Amino acid sequence: MTILNVGLIGCGNISTAYLMLAPTFKDIRFVAVSDVNEDAALARGKEFGIKARTVSDLLAADDIDIVVNLTIPAAHYDVTKRILDAGKHAYTEKPLVLTLKQAKSLADLAATKGLRIGSAPDTFLGSAHQQARAIIDEGGIGTVTSGTAHFMGPGMEMWHPNPDFFFQPGGGPVLDMGPYYITNFVQLIGPVKRVAALTSSAQTERTITSEPRAGETIPVGTPTNIHALLAFENGATITLSTSWDVKAHNHRNMELYGTEGALFVPDPNHFGGALAQADAMGQVTEVPVWDHPFGKLNWDLEKETPRANYRTAGLADMAAAIIADRPHRCGLELAVHVTDVMTSILKSGETGQFVDMTTTCDRPAALGPDAARELLKEDA
Ligand SMILES: NC(=O)c1ccc[n+]([C@@H]2O[C@H](COP(=O)([O-])OP(=O)(O)OC[C@H]3O[C@@H](n4cnc5c(N)ncnc54)[C@H](O)[C@@H]3O)[C@@H](O)[C@H]2O)c1
Repeated sequence: MTILNVGLIGCGNISTAYLMLAPTFKDIRFVAVSDVNEDAALARGKEFGIKARTVSDLLAADDIDIVVNLTIPAAHYDVTKRILDAGKHAYTEKPLVLTLKQAKSLADLAATKGLRIGSAPDTFLGSAHQQARAIIDEGGIGTVTSGTAHFMGPGMEMWHPNPDFFFQPGGGPVLDMGPYYITNFVQLIGPVKRVAALTSSAQTERTITSEPRAGETIPVGTPTNIHALLAFENGATITLSTSWDVKAHNHRNMELYGTEGALFVPDPNHFGGALAQADAMGQVTEVPVWDHPFGKLNWDLEKETPRANYRTAGLADMAAAIIADRPHRCGLELAVHVTDVMTSILKSGETGQFVDMTTTCDRPAALGPDAARELLKEDA
């Protein structure tokens, strides 16, 4: 059985989830970690019993097939380019990059070198979102004609230890959280045709309340409140609001309205959650949860609200796809298109004009229960 060896660059907050969850999947094995901050790499390596290397050594290693980029968004382009230049497949956290130009340049480089790029988010592979996909594909709500999505909250400076990057170009709620919502819409109903948006910021600086930097102020250099309209190629029109200037709200995460009903989709930043569906008469019922492995609770089990967390599923799918020589679901065309959508939303906010997409993509293949089980180790 082939197992692909994986190296990791960026030993910050999210690296813990990757290293904890990777052993669940059958085609990947983390063999090295690195960080520009070598102490961070040493600490993470020690925690998980994995060799810590310098970034250059990790890239030069001939026993590594895929390198995962978990650095901050502003470093994504340079680090992914270095991974490809080193002749390795790259899998990056979201957002893929910060501009469409960077996305196309990486796509060209990957094509020239015959290497893959995969990009988070992979939460759309979760049980709830794949069940929503199955309902839509079976015509459960007819043709989807419109919808809404809302990701709004008070910010990131109250939980992240180093929240600076969230408030600089490349951060902001569209590039940070938009990938979850827009990627899920694309997998559910297809690619976007044009967008428009209004953008603003409620504050010019924010005060960190999380430790260890509580009390420090950080500047805001990117919009933190974005209301966008998305026209999809299939004719559907969607309202998307993302904000870090909202103390509380009462909207559902995602709603899709069809000619024969409506579908209420849970948080696309998570793999599980409950779906509700309305019939043609507008009668709403909870959808019985199907038996999908990426809905099984495995995270925060000791807390009041345990979750299903299968982060690294996208990486595992890419490894399986390399082995089987098939397209991977968290694919490059999808990530490039989502980058186009997000950067066009910000451009529309600056110019006051509608912006037409210059990219498109196919919907990624569905990941039903059997296909998801295939990615897992037998005892997972
Ligand atoms: N924290 C989360 O819950 C979360 C969830 C999903 C996705 N993400 C995404 O994951 C990425 C990382 O987020 P995080 O919260 O772990 O950030 P973080 O700031 O905690 O960690 C980033 C790490 O990358 C290292 N780094 C930065 N530039 C580097 C470079 N050029 N070369 C090598 N190392 C470099 C830093 O030293 C740091 O250790 C971001 O793109 C973020 O959007 C984070």
